[in-house]
Amino acid sequence: MELRAAHAAERDKVLDLLALWYGDRSFFARYNLNDRSFRDDLCLIARDGGRLVATLQIFDRRVRLAGQAVPAAALGSVFTHQDYRGRGIASALISLAIATMEREGFEVSLLFSDRLNFYGRFGWRSAFRVITIVSPPSSEHFTSAVALRPFDRARDLEQVRRIYDRYSGRFNTSVVRDKSYWLGNLSFAGNPDEFFVVAAREQAATAPIVAYARTIRYYQLPAVMEYGYVPGCEDAMAALIAELVALVSGRAQEGPLARYEEATLLKPSEGAEQTTALLAQTAHDPALENALTAKGFSLTYHTDVNYMWRVVSPTRLAARLGWPADEVRKNLFSLVSARDAVFWTADRF
Ligand SMILES: CC(C)(COP(=O)(O)OP(=O)(O)OC[C@H]1O[C@@H](n2cnc3c(N)ncnc32)[C@H](O)[C@@H]1OP(=O)(O)O)[C@@H](O)C(=O)NCCC(=O)NCCS
Repeated sequence: MELRAAHAAERDKVLDLLALWYGDRSFFARYNLNDRSFRDDLCLIARDGGRLVATLQIFDRRVRLAGQAVPAAALGSVFTHQDYRGRGIASALISLAIATMEREGFEVSLLFSDRLNFYGRFGWRSAFRVITIVSPPSSEHFTSAVALRPFDRARDLEQVRRIYDRYSGRFNTSVVRDKSYWLGNLSFAGNPDEFFVVAAREQAATAPIVAYARTIRYYQLPAVMEYGYVPGCEDAMAALIAELVALVSGRAQEGPLARYEEATLLKPSEGAEQTTALLAQTAHDPALENALTAKGFSLTYHTDVNYMWRVVSPTRLAARLGWPADEVRKNLFSLVSARDAVFWTADRF
């Protein structure tokens, strides 16, 4: 068995293999083609003779931890061909991945998986990521205090980027995004589709954006995969979320968003099980939670433990963050699992 980094010319073969996972080659291709930080040398493969039988991908990210942009190896697309499972091939690739992460200067690693024991054997440990279920008040939905419109990349990206840096930049584990990452992320985050809404105080298309939200269907459920707002504009953010909840629950047939084609993503579809709730992440932001509950929304929480972290380089992380060497792991886990940390679904990999 040959284990090594892939060559660029092997991308198609890797995608052919990943297509066997759940029959959606394009799902993986969207990351490979659009993620500007995608690196073939961080795609590891196992070959048996000429045949590609297993792969994994290290996605190159920087996440904020204690005010620093820390090189983070996001591990994903771990797959072994059915005929080759249970022979230790994925395990061998993961060991190679760890060596690669160390060599390439990554300091931490994160992944999403329900195989907690499997990754636990290689040193990843569950962290906690709180998902909020936002449910509407029982009374009729109220009129919105903001003007809502779909995001337009040419017109809105720079404003949204500034809001992102300022809002998400306050929270541990948020991804540091440059313009190139943003451009790729707009193509792969929805995977395939997202409904991206911006809110302003006035109707004019040139009115400054005060809040935004990016929404998807996540395992069939309507979900906000990221949002942000200008400091002090919790009311606008809450109004935007309220409008999204109204759309989801079918109460906003005539609302400001209903007329946009992309809004179909969130509208209840005929025959599907009716839901009135919207998934989001709010635990990091008590001020927004207060604004939502003041409008009568109820917030319940689900803690996702299928979210794992690992220290890759204790020495570099300790030096960077000024932590005592023997407290690096403990400190990392308390930061990443704290309520004021946020890893947006939009940055999934
Ligand atoms: C998860 C997956 C990648 C594992 O691939 P694999 O090559 O079979 O992995 P390994 O052989 O290294 O380990 C798998 C299991 O076999 C066991 N194993 C390893 N070597 C073995 C050997 N020589 N003989 C028997 N069993 C062995 C491992 O202990 C492991 O046990 P576990 O299931 O209790 O954790 C594979 O099942 C897969 O592609 N699944 C679908 C995609 C997926 O779920 N990916 C992970 C998402 S994060």
